[in-house]
Amino acid sequence: MTQTTVEPNPLQESIRLEKIPEPCVMVIFGASGDLTRRKLVPAIFDLEAQGLLPAGFAIVGVGRTPMEDGSFRSYLHEEMKKAGHLNARRASLWDEFARMLHYVAVDASIADEFHRLREALHAINTDHRAGSNYLFYLATPPSMYAPIIRHIGLCGLNRPQRDDAWVRIIIEKPFGVDLESARELNRQVISVFNEEQVYRIDHYLGKETVQNLLAFRFANGIFEPIWNRNYIDHVQITAAETVGVENRGAYYEEAGTLRDMIQNHMLQLLALTAMEPPVLFDERQVRDEKQKILQAIKPIRPEDVQVYTVRGQYAQGTTAGKSVPAYRDEKGVAPDSPTETYVALKLTVDDWRWADVPFYVRSGKRLPKRITEIAVQFKKTPHHMFSGFAGDRLSANSIVIRIQPDEGISLRFNSKIPGSRMNMRPVTMDFRYGAAFGGRLVEAYTRLLLDCMLGDPTLYARGDSLEMAWSLVTPILEGWKSNAQSRVFPYPAGTWGPPEADALLHADGRRWRLP
Ligand code: BG6
Repeated sequence: MTQTTVEPNPLQESIRLEKIPEPCVMVIFGASGDLTRRKLVPAIFDLEAQGLLPAGFAIVGVGRTPMEDGSFRSYLHEEMKKAGHLNARRASLWDEFARMLHYVAVDASIADEFHRLREALHAINTDHRAGSNYLFYLATPPSMYAPIIRHIGLCGLNRPQRDDAWVRIIIEKPFGVDLESARELNRQVISVFNEEQVYRIDHYLGKETVQNLLAFRFANGIFEPIWNRNYIDHVQITAAETVGVENRGAYYEEAGTLRDMIQNHMLQLLALTAMEPPVLFDERQVRDEKQKILQAIKPIRPEDVQVYTVRGQYAQGTTAGKSVPAYRDEKGVAPDSPTETYVALKLTVDDWRWADVPFYVRSGKRLPKRITEIAVQFKKTPHHMFSGFAGDRLSANSIVIRIQPDEGISLRFNSKIPGSRMNMRPVTMDFRYGAAFGGRLVEAYTRLLLDCMLGDPTLYARGDSLEMAWSLVTPILEGWKSNAQSRVFPYPAGTWGPPEADALLHADGRRWRLP
């Protein structure tokens, strides 16, 4: 079933982006990096194309490489063209947009250089009538976060210059590498900025379908009464990617899947799936409820990693009919690397609603299919009155929320096959975003950057929830390191991870869904 009652909406209406933020200068540290060209500039350009940028707006790229504004503009123009962001309709907007782009060469590790940056920013602010509002974006390697934050503080750029102005900072992941480093980073950030100024980005929270999870659960009356241990057998959360580590081998060697995907995106998805209904959809209530779930997840102790975790690493294999190298043969990766590219976990949420309901979470690179989904598996019917007719083909109901691609929600139930016999098989009712709403979905970064400019942190991770997530992940890292039995199991690229991950569910009499 596809819902067809919704009128095809213009993008602006369907994505609820109606407010235009106050003028501001967005300052991107790490201007020549991947993130700036792949995500940030396209996201801001998207806002411009939708008429959602304020009249007074400028982007200032900050980097070590000396560059004129003109070269910065041409560089980004080329990158935007290459990535297909400048179609015929949008190409004409570029010249106007390019006038907002500036570049200041600064060695961010040197405090004195920030005085020059401050002068440059003030001049750009005046030229663009940006209202003395500043949005700093840390898109550098994480080792630069602490010095940049300190130096912003030392030159006074952390405080608004006027009573009616604001200063905010967005910090990219990885936010620390374990609990201790995350705490330390939080301490550094909070010694320079107030918590209300700090926006810790997790781009999964900006995905349209992730937000729809809240709408699905809390704007409908029929799901919430059955969303608990009385009706739900277990939950599977999957984020599968077909890509390998691409050109990020060096980063990935330090990170691995647990830090790269589970600590942030996957635990956020779990929290949104499991949280209690907030009283209001506001920053405080939503984030408080998510935090309670993270607190309720039972930590996996280092000595239990063998029982509740499986890690894998892709070996040479085939993806989309093409032979692809093993992780250990990727650029920047050690030939004997122990870094995991796949993780499966069994987690439990120790609260009244979820007691004894396992949450199986898995994420990996070089899997057969790109898909992120949350599958809620309901319990079987208490009595099988059709057992003589349908044999084993009947399955328990499930609701699958497809985060990406082919965004939508499916309900699986059993149906009679037409004919004279009472034969049955499972069928699905499908809601598809594309069919119901038309148009394309807004990119996560577009939504999140706009929210930050509007001063709404609801879809950003709070400091305490980041620390909580690290406190769940750190003992696993310790267990993997200290436990001689714990191994990284190889899996051929293009398969669904190591067989040991199947065994994790088989031990409970369950199996992974084939997405
Ligand atoms: C990033 C990870 O945070 O998320 C990447 O660093 C991963 O390794 C990416 O590929 C996945 O994001 P998306 O939006 O493509 O699912």
